[in-house]
Amino acid sequence: MRIAVIGTGYVGLVTGTCFAETGNYVTCVDIDTQKVNKLSAGEITIFEPGLEKLFERNLKDGRLTFTTDIEAGVHDAEIIFLALPTPPGEDGSADLSYVLGVADHLGRIMKEYKVIVDKSTVPVGTAAKVHAAIAKNYKGEFDVVSNPEFLREGVAVDDFMKPDRVVVGTNSERAQKLMSDLFAPYVRQGNPVIFMDEKSAELTKYAANSFLAMKISFMNEIAQLCERLGADVDMVRKGIGTDERIGKRFLFPGIGYGGSCFPKDVKALAKSAEEAEYEFKILKAVMEVNETQKLHLLPKIKRYFQGSLKGKHIALWGLAFKPNTDDVREAPAFDMIRALLDEGATVSAFDPEAIANTQRQFGDSITYANQYQTLENADALVIATEWNEFRTPDFEKISAALKNKVIFDGRNLFDAVTMREMGYHYESVGRP
Ligand code: UDX
Repeated sequence: MRIAVIGTGYVGLVTGTCFAETGNYVTCVDIDTQKVNKLSAGEITIFEPGLEKLFERNLKDGRLTFTTDIEAGVHDAEIIFLALPTPPGEDGSADLSYVLGVADHLGRIMKEYKVIVDKSTVPVGTAAKVHAAIAKNYKGEFDVVSNPEFLREGVAVDDFMKPDRVVVGTNSERAQKLMSDLFAPYVRQGNPVIFMDEKSAELTKYAANSFLAMKISFMNEIAQLCERLGADVDMVRKGIGTDERIGKRFLFPGIGYGGSCFPKDVKALAKSAEEAEYEFKILKAVMEVNETQKLHLLPKIKRYFQGSLKGKHIALWGLAFKPNTDDVREAPAFDMIRALLDEGATVSAFDPEAIANTQRQFGDSITYANQYQTLENADALVIATEWNEFRTPDFEKISAALKNKVIFDGRNLFDAVTMREMGYHYESVGRP
């Protein structure tokens, strides 16, 4: 098939590359000339494990091309994906100006039937707005489909190539047939392509992310309770996760969820509910718990240092909002840094991928070093992201470099008993 993807951000680039991988011809369109030049020259613009190889192969074989010319990019495409930003406004509602701007443009240049697919996470009713924006100028036949993405950063290629499910919102049989042919290679193992109306598809994305965020906030509250009652959240997690109705995944307590999706989507769904004159009470609690949780370690650190962090030097491991990404959007580590600086501490930070992005935000207000160098002269180590390389560190090196054998672990990486046996003061989340 011939496909166009408009927007070469994270979702657009993964989508375009993965569609090319199964033999489709994909043209990716973006207004950013510099980005398009880079991509055309074979330089990938995002960090995503496994993507680069696919990107290079499909670019070389001519199945993946990039352009700034939207008209040339879409003219022979049967399906046009919109992977455009929908940044949250101050009140949390999604800003649709990019999506509707492109829809308006498409209406002016379309000459034959096409399927326009909303890939961006958009509020319920957006497909209808996109339809109206195109229909203003284009009087021929076309369909607008909602096809939310469920890609996790770090494993996005796998999520795309072998999705648990594909959700397609459209009542048009013609569009259903095209979408079903397009996704057939990705659901060979028998996972479903679920067809539904546009509104339900749009809501499905918000419901999925909000539910997962709710699981995390719920466990973070259980962890709070464990600390007060002397129970161990790891045991409770195993005890409940084995019930298939609950499931083992997304039950890990920590210092809160971050990233480009959960915080934005939970807020946007709460806002949508408000606009529909419904107060979504659980979502408000999910957000509140997460905000508190991001600073969960701070009182513990302060207590250890008798109430004051003035002049203390803290080593911080992990800046990205989760492992295997350089993404620092809404990263709990950033809340931690701000709080530590406010308390008069100094911070030396390390992350395998996210240092450059952190420097952009914090500049010289903190220092950056390699994993073990951060520990030199540090009064304590704080862990904010569960990178694999932090799971089995060289404890001899740690204890030799740290001033005190003190670790505050926001991601529960180590066994508390072993840590105590090694002579550490070790505090984590929800465990004795
Ligand atoms: C998420 C959804 O998983 C994906 O389906 C959607 O399309 C986009 O949003 P992503 O933001 O990449 O993906 O990250 P994810 O792996 O889901 O983690 C989100 C946050 O939750 C991270 O900050 C992570 O550390 C935190 N988390 C996750 C927990 O605190 N505990 C858990 O048990 C799981």
